[in-house]
Amino acid sequence: MRLSTDEVLQQTRRYLDLIGGRHLSTAEKQSFIAETVESYERYYNRGFISYRKAVTEAGQFAALEWSGEGSMLWDLLGREYIDCLGGFGIFSAGVNHPKVMKAVADQMQRMALNSQELLEPWRAALARVLAGITPGELQNSFFINNGTDAIEGAIKLTRLFTRRNTFISAIGGFHGKSMGSLSLMGKASFREPFEAGLQDVRFVPYGDSEALESEFRRCEAVGVQIAGVVLEPVQGEAGGVVPPPDFFPRARELCTRYGALLIADEIQTGMGRTGKLWGVDHWNVVPDIMCVGKSIGGGVMPLSAFISTAAIWEVMVPNPIIHSTTFGGNPLACAAGLAAIEVTLEEDLPGQAAIKGEFLLRELGCLQEKYPSVLKAAQGKGLLIGMEFPQQEIGWKVASGLFRRGVLVAGTYSKAQVIRIEPALGIPMELLQEMLNRLEDTFREVAKEM
Ligand SMILES: Cc1ncc(COP(=O)(O)O)c(C=O)c1O
Repeated sequence: MRLSTDEVLQQTRRYLDLIGGRHLSTAEKQSFIAETVESYERYYNRGFISYRKAVTEAGQFAALEWSGEGSMLWDLLGREYIDCLGGFGIFSAGVNHPKVMKAVADQMQRMALNSQELLEPWRAALARVLAGITPGELQNSFFINNGTDAIEGAIKLTRLFTRRNTFISAIGGFHGKSMGSLSLMGKASFREPFEAGLQDVRFVPYGDSEALESEFRRCEAVGVQIAGVVLEPVQGEAGGVVPPPDFFPRARELCTRYGALLIADEIQTGMGRTGKLWGVDHWNVVPDIMCVGKSIGGGVMPLSAFISTAAIWEVMVPNPIIHSTTFGGNPLACAAGLAAIEVTLEEDLPGQAAIKGEFLLRELGCLQEKYPSVLKAAQGKGLLIGMEFPQQEIGWKVASGLFRRGVLVAGTYSKAQVIRIEPALGIPMELLQEMLNRLEDTFREVAKEM
């Protein structure tokens, strides 16, 4: 319902006052929490309130996120949470990393967005730095604001370069939810309502290089040429699924043999998450296109990119606005990206992820032996770890038990009975140990209830 100008201004003034840090009494906080829940239900999407099982089942669905630092989050009432979710992969450098915050604040003082007509220095600088840290001859970047758009761009670049239309993706793969990227989605419930998608896509079991080769052969036999193969180095939303060591090298070899492009979706695995700077570094594989997102913005700004070789990029040169976007590569995001890269390298976040990931998987293995009826398996690489439960309901119980104990985790998008552990890569060991203590407490409680 349309309100009067005065009524709207009353609302915006009140909200901006709160953003500005006005002190709230406990009663005011409670009332603001109730108002936020109502706004979610009436004006956002009421499904979202009940969807968040961990929080809902813990009876604290009205926890309102207010602030954070490093690996800690606080809600409006001051309740504290150890962040083992990492914003679904954006907080690899932790929440509000001072170096990233400073870079963004410095640029904000100067100019927040850009005219789009003059040259944007930090876009150029970030592209240059990325060329120096990405595998092989990857060199040219295009910047956007989320992973989905990076995949979308990669699809367009692949089609432009190969003049082919057929893609191969993997069952369980997650690459975004726009019409193009959704066409590569390896989970039925997200795809089905929007069938048929845009691409001709064939799906193979993830990690099965024989199946991948058969698909190439089948297509060749009927004159269908594959444009590109899109793969995550470790499947994140499927629950930290690690492929056998031959999978990526074979995928590389097959793409080269059949003239297809290998597109590595490093949106979740990149920037050290799996224990190497890039997931493909585990096998020394060089993709033709790499998509990055999430933590490349340092947990402060939305930023993503697709990156390719100069030779492939040639098709984007004659008409450089054949693909364009208003906000992509804006100065705030690029400042954040430059700082995020510096933090990742200076603090050796990949090395930290490798050590802590091994520790966590070892400890989770011990918990699995102790509580086999609760924890079915734990898998992953670095700090991209999935805990698999025998049933979805047990997973919800564990997530809500952890939430009650002040640990934030969440399910994965593609596999309901898997909960992710995806903390900041620099999370202190003591906090990880504390999380494990609370996890064991929770397992004990859930096992008793069974
Ligand atoms: C591997 C992968 N690709 C693509 C995406 C989509 O990214 P976004 O949600 O930023 O659009 C995600 C998001 O979870 C992802 O994990």
